[in-house]
Amino acid sequence: MAGKDVDDEPGGYRPGEIDETGRPWPDLPEVQPPHRPPLGIVIALTNQKGGVGKTTTTINLGAALVEDGRRVLLVDLDPQGSLSIGLGINPHTLSHSVYDLLIPRGQVSVDDVIMASNVDGLDILPANIDLSAAEVQLVSEVAREQTLMRVLDKVKDRYDIILIDCAPSLGLLTINALTAADFVLIPLECEFFALRGVALLTDTIAKVQERLNSNLRVLGVAPTMFDHRTLHAREVLERVLDAFGDEVFHTVIRRTIKFPETTVAGEPITTYASASGGAQAYRSLAREVLARL
Ligand SMILES: Nc1ncnc2c1ncn2[C@@H]1O[C@H](COP(=O)(O)OP(=O)(O)OP(=O)(O)O)[C@@H](O)[C@H]1O
Ligand SMILES: [Mg+2]
Repeated sequence: MAGKDVDDEPGGYRPGEIDETGRPWPDLPEVQPPHRPPLGIVIALTNQKGGVGKTTTTINLGAALVEDGRRVLLVDLDPQGSLSIGLGINPHTLSHSVYDLLIPRGQVSVDDVIMASNVDGLDILPANIDLSAAEVQLVSEVAREQTLMRVLDKVKDRYDIILIDCAPSLGLLTINALTAADFVLIPLECEFFALRGVALLTDTIAKVQERLNSNLRVLGVAPTMFDHRTLHAREVLERVLDAFGDEVFHTVIRRTIKFPETTVAGEPITTYASASGGAQAYRSLAREVLARL
């Protein structure tokens, strides 16, 4: 392909330098060794808008956190199974999936479902289309909103961070994720309709905080698919900053063809194109996340 990919731009700001969000880059603390025993912090990646980078962020933030020495579990809570596919797992051939843990039939334990990914220290609870039935079946369960929480409670002591990749919906599965989570991370695509529907999302978060999980906090808003060459994307980013202020991460994920390529390769960008701007961006987001936890 002729021309320069947006991703090729130099990344990495020095503290105080004005970054892509127009604010001085923070002086982030050095990454500390992980707490032992692991803290088991749960982060839900949620936005009911489709295709904003939830799955891409879950995989690559997870892989970057592993580079920082964290043990990470990724939970695929989307019947599309994109997270599983993105890590090279064929969802159609799974003998067990998250579904079996939410709607137990017989004796499937969480250990039967957890799989190691091709990145050392990065595990996954995979999903497939079976999960779409759970949304309906959970309705008649007792304490239906706490089902995922009960599952994750069994493995929290093994992981530093558990990232939940939500489906583009605010249905019962997403409510389960928000109920199980300590934090919610909101990926926002830097395009015209980015903020449409965000009020509904923040409303939903507020309701979960009030009724189901008073511990839930917004960890931050991650701008994704940013094309710094267009005035339009810069204007959208400004509006996102007006709306969310300091909740917006300093790290802006640029639009690059490398991300779709990583899905085909079935691995994170941190291993697929380790030196790329996209990989560096997710490493930088990981540092910001660790500083905010
Ligand atoms: N920074 C980026 N630059 C270019 N393409 C990207 C970027 N991030 C993600 N993509 C691509 O955009 C598409 C949607 O991304 P992704 O699947 O991560 O979004 P999502 O919010 O999880 O979608 P869904 O709502 O369907 O679950 C994918 O094809 C992905 O490879
Ligand atoms: Mg997704």
